[in-house]
Amino acid sequence: MTDWPVHGTISGPIVMIGFGSIGRGTLPLIERHFKFDRSRFVVIDPDDSDRRLLDERGITYIQAAVTRENYRDMLKPLLTKGEGQGFCVNLSVDTSSLDIMEFCREIGVLYIDTVVEPWLGFYWDNSGGAAARSNYALRETVLAAKRRNPGGTTAVSCCGANPGMVSWFVKQALVNVASDMGLDFEEPKTREGWAALMHKAGVKGVHIAERDTQRAKNPKPANVFVNTWSVEGFLSEGMQPAELGWGTHEKWMPENGRTHESGCGAAIYLLQPGANTRVRSWCPTLGAQYGFLVTHNESISIADFFTLRDDAGKPIYRPTCHYAYHPANDAVLSLHELFGNGGTIQEQHHILDEHEIVDGIDELGVLLFGHSRNAYWYGSQLSVEETRRLAPYQNATGMQVTSAVLAGMVWALENPNAGIVEADEMDYKRCLEVQFPYLGPVRGFYTDWKPTDGREKLFPEDVDYSDPWQFRNILVR
Ligand SMILES: NC(=O)c1ccc[n+]([C@@H]2O[C@H](COP(=O)([O-])OP(=O)(O)OC[C@H]3O[C@@H](n4cnc5c(N)ncnc54)[C@H](O)[C@@H]3O)[C@@H](O)[C@H]2O)c1
Repeated sequence: MTDWPVHGTISGPIVMIGFGSIGRGTLPLIERHFKFDRSRFVVIDPDDSDRRLLDERGITYIQAAVTRENYRDMLKPLLTKGEGQGFCVNLSVDTSSLDIMEFCREIGVLYIDTVVEPWLGFYWDNSGGAAARSNYALRETVLAAKRRNPGGTTAVSCCGANPGMVSWFVKQALVNVASDMGLDFEEPKTREGWAALMHKAGVKGVHIAERDTQRAKNPKPANVFVNTWSVEGFLSEGMQPAELGWGTHEKWMPENGRTHESGCGAAIYLLQPGANTRVRSWCPTLGAQYGFLVTHNESISIADFFTLRDDAGKPIYRPTCHYAYHPANDAVLSLHELFGNGGTIQEQHHILDEHEIVDGIDELGVLLFGHSRNAYWYGSQLSVEETRRLAPYQNATGMQVTSAVLAGMVWALENPNAGIVEADEMDYKRCLEVQFPYLGPVRGFYTDWKPTDGREKLFPEDVDYSDPWQFRNILVR
């Protein structure tokens, strides 16, 4: 496409916090799709590796870390300078999404992030135990802020590819499955309506099923953690407890599974790191696969969104929901190396950029399973080749994220007083409309695959054949 649409005007300053793989990739999309005043665009990052990209565009760069101590003083003058409404785009690690989001709302500035990120140190502090380090706990802090201050200036929480775009995919996939089944339904307009439709369609669970086949030109060296996006981000979430939205159909929980004592109650966690927890899942190109059950905000928010309750508030229907992530092969090897070495994190980290990758796709979608058509995957099959043609400074994984940030920014500009929102609460059609040009083929596939397939050929296993879609069958033990 050469005639890119301008989706809106950002009338005040833009402050981007963090200029790593996602910040770099988001930059050309902001330039392409918004009208804004370049002289009031500021990027803050302690690492100046890519400042050339900013200097050549005349964008102000501040070499600093945003911290608990300085965020108000540093951000206020930048975000409120001159006329119009500012926009804070938080794409950093180690900065508190909650604190910055609440501050932006206080000063009437639009806000977006891609994860509920805590201040530096949170992920590695086990003094409160695993539950305190969970995404459930982080998400509850955002839900509490939303309850304390409903409405007001829009702050979009967790709007990347996943969390983010996959919540829009779930709705589209559900509509597709319900239509293909011939169900009599109208497209829901409320949360309860969506939950009722998923219940009616008989969906037992949802995997965020991803297979990243991007291959590096050079083989991974020993003792280097290689990934296609933030190594720091992946390690942080990978060392959190494995977490999953917990469906009402589940009959069995692993011995190290734990529920939470307060909050929405939609999820459980396991006393083991997500990056060392494998699950059986399925993606279209390579079929059945092992994925890692790494905790993600969307595992909880989707399960929560699609929960149906009785009059007493007791859940009567909820899908199980979790990530089943097969990262790039180099990242799988990096994890194997790390856990094999007593959990010692490699000192060297490397994110593969689009020029270091020979080929491959990031196949990222949602697998809705357990219904009468068995299972249906719907998602993006974006290749690195197509990504290179679409926009600079990113690989396929990055573009699925940055285009979701773009969609979230468009939605926020069009809905500036929606308060704190998660992707599940946004207009999925509008967001996907903005994002589609950047997602490569977006397609749906039915499969006959079940997690009970091919089991017990040579050895006995604990398998529940009466209900193939039990977590008992999905978890690799
Ligand atoms: N939702 C999604 O789909 C999705 C996907 C990928 C990444 N993410 C998240 O997006 C964020 C960025 O990912 P990335 O791949 O660009 O990571 P990255 O590691 O490439 O970049 C992070 C940047 O933040 C900067 N930074 C660190 N501390 C900072 C501070 N205190 N103040 C300002 N900047 C600081 C770093 O110097 C770095 O440049 C991470 O939180 C990651 O988890 C979300």
